[in-house]
Amino acid sequence: MRQKLHLHTLLITLLTLGACTSTDTLVRERADFTKNWSFNLGDNASAKETTFNDSQWRKLSVPHDWSVEGKFDEKNPAGAGGGALPGGIGWYRKTFTVDAKDKDKLVYLDFDGVYTNSEVWVNGQYLGKRPYGYISFRYDITPHLKYGQEQNVVAVKVDNAQQPNSRWYSGSGIYRNVWLVKTNPVHVDQWGTFVTTPQVSEQAATVNITTSIRNAKKQSGDITLRTLVVDAQGKEVARTASEKVALQNDVTEVKQDLTVTNPKLWSVENPYLYKVVTLVEQNGKVVDNFETPLGIRTFNFDAKTGFTLNGKPMKINGVCNHHDLGALGAAINVRALERQLEIMKGMGVNGIRTSHNPPAPELLDLCDKMGFIVMDESFDMWKKEKSKYDYSLAWDQWHKRDLENFIKRDRNHPSVFIWSIGNEIPEQWAPEGTTIAKELVSIVKNLDTTRPVTVGINEPNPNNTIYKSGALDLFGFNYHHQDFEKFPQTFPGQKFIATETVSALMTRGHYDMPADSLRRWPIRWDLPFTTGNKDLTVSAYDNVSTPWGSTHEETWKIMKKHAYLSGQYIWTGFDYLGEPTPYTWPARSSYFGIVDLAGFPKDVYYMYQSEWTNKPVLHVFPHWNWEPGKTVDVMAYYNNADEVELFLNGKSVGVKKKQGDDLHVRWRLPFQPGTLRAVSRAGGKEVLTKEIKTAGAPAKIVLEADRTQISADGKDLSFVTVKILDKDGNLVPRADNLVHFTIDGKATLAGVDNGLQTSMESFKANHRKAFNGLCLAILQAQEEAGTVKLTATSEGLAPATVTIQLKK
Ligand code: GAL
Repeated sequence: MRQKLHLHTLLITLLTLGACTSTDTLVRERADFTKNWSFNLGDNASAKETTFNDSQWRKLSVPHDWSVEGKFDEKNPAGAGGGALPGGIGWYRKTFTVDAKDKDKLVYLDFDGVYTNSEVWVNGQYLGKRPYGYISFRYDITPHLKYGQEQNVVAVKVDNAQQPNSRWYSGSGIYRNVWLVKTNPVHVDQWGTFVTTPQVSEQAATVNITTSIRNAKKQSGDITLRTLVVDAQGKEVARTASEKVALQNDVTEVKQDLTVTNPKLWSVENPYLYKVVTLVEQNGKVVDNFETPLGIRTFNFDAKTGFTLNGKPMKINGVCNHHDLGALGAAINVRALERQLEIMKGMGVNGIRTSHNPPAPELLDLCDKMGFIVMDESFDMWKKEKSKYDYSLAWDQWHKRDLENFIKRDRNHPSVFIWSIGNEIPEQWAPEGTTIAKELVSIVKNLDTTRPVTVGINEPNPNNTIYKSGALDLFGFNYHHQDFEKFPQTFPGQKFIATETVSALMTRGHYDMPADSLRRWPIRWDLPFTTGNKDLTVSAYDNVSTPWGSTHEETWKIMKKHAYLSGQYIWTGFDYLGEPTPYTWPARSSYFGIVDLAGFPKDVYYMYQSEWTNKPVLHVFPHWNWEPGKTVDVMAYYNNADEVELFLNGKSVGVKKKQGDDLHVRWRLPFQPGTLRAVSRAGGKEVLTKEIKTAGAPAKIVLEADRTQISADGKDLSFVTVKILDKDGNLVPRADNLVHFTIDGKATLAGVDNGLQTSMESFKANHRKAFNGLCLAILQAQEEAGTVKLTATSEGLAPATVTIQLKK
């Protein structure tokens, strides 16, 4: 009875806690271990010693990225390709106590990711090294702990000195979260559940759960494993129990089946989430609790009909993103990730490729909740290097363990649909392409057979050794949109995903005439981008692309035509630090994004929005500030209408309709200052109107916060867009005024940006020049509730203030 009561109370607590607070506090403890670290940039071998004096070190919270705090410099060994920011060696230390009552517990330190070559010591004891900067890992620190009042010290050495080791900006440091986990000796192992749904119908879903229970002290006896499924409201919808399960010495694996009746399916429009709650009971007491997300969905890739989700055909309209968060560098922040995904959702994106490495776990949590089809990628190279000091150096010793850890960590996320074992792997042109692909696929399949495995291959070539391995479920190749139509002939019966497409280039708000001159430099890797601009800008008319890629429209026109093309992951959703193709230094961030580094959409964002969403769209560009008489191309992306009429100063410039597979309309006209007005119509009825006016001189600042109320949790962010307007409220399209920020209240400035790929200004300064009329300030809450005012000033302009509420 007591046991029942106990469990009952536990469950009530659990259910009332609902989806938000985790049951982790019930028995198992998983504490945020991110505060009060000390940091020193530079090497000092004695910093691992308990007695080391770090009182002079900088105090900070992780996630932290020291590279983004540095100065852009051509001589930094990462080079422009790596973002031109410094690397080096850094040390982190943290002291902590562990309650005497926890003496019988197991204590683990979980790192979500440290870039790179981390080594960890606790109380002077060496715990190990992890070369791969994107992998999550755990150390059992129990044997090294002191209890009660006594201090423990964890020291972490991060070595990102040997560069280049990446083809993009990596960041440096403990750039993801750290957790301190306390469990009883008998507990669910790290990533110790695997939940699948082998049968799903409208009436019922079978939920299959394998639970690995670690018996850390090799106790004898048995346990009861109780597993529940709760719905999004926290209501129990199914349960099962396995009783008298004999404990094995090391890990005991238990398989269970449950049925959820009338399951609500997970989809990109309605990403419904259940939760599996695991309770381990020993001698009548709950000794561990664990939660696993559960999304019930079925999907299929078909060689003829492409991708279906829950039986419905659907095109994967995805983007590739690197992991940096612009001005925040690589230091992960959940709100910053969520904002990126919101901006992508707003454009109609339904898929994310974690190019080219395991992401922060929080990204997958968000994709589960927000509804994205994730292609989860493990590596950018195997044994053959791409950069001198990259992961290929660690390949032989680490790839098996890293790949296994990655799959185990991510395989319960309903948003994960595709495993990628690599991107543009040099071995694809050597015999090892076959052997390594087979080995990696078998590692994956050993841990998960519910998702197809692919690789981003460079070419649609049947002789490619990775393709020829026959090991891939989905044939993925990057680019070559011209070959998509030949695909069914060249690869009969193959299922296909365009793992990477487009690589078009743009600078937000910059326009070179004419809009329709396609600028693609010749396929000669040694030739510079001859058609570029002196100031390293690139026109935003979607007419400039890499030779291996295409404009956005070129690929999408083919992609939308054929059902057998299950979808694409466009390079890229956001600009990212590093890889400033087509330029190099003094450019230091990429031009590929549909959205710039600061999060401001480029024009082509609205082409996709007009195609991929049902929102009414009428987007007209460019700005209307030109030399009198200059011939200007005006373009419009629109939907839900059959024509658009353009007026200049009240006079019609003409009615345009998209013909055939057109994705935009265009007018060519001599510039005259005044008002450009576009009207879209359906069946003669006005749908939308857009006006662009010739702007006068910069006169004032306007601030627009994405959220005016944020949590006072020391992490949450408000992204404040700064607009430079003329006296009549028009955005000044080329304004580059220097804007200064001051904060009044308990918040800090986490970063500033303007999206300009060549800006050498610091992301961490309290000022930023506007670029093409805009810049961004990112305000971060401290831990006290209250009101914060962010004020922006600039010489000669009327200042502006925005008020943000910090809520507890
Ligand atoms: C691809 C590569 C990406 C990026 C892109 C730029 O070949 O997979 O990582 O470098 O080119 O166009």
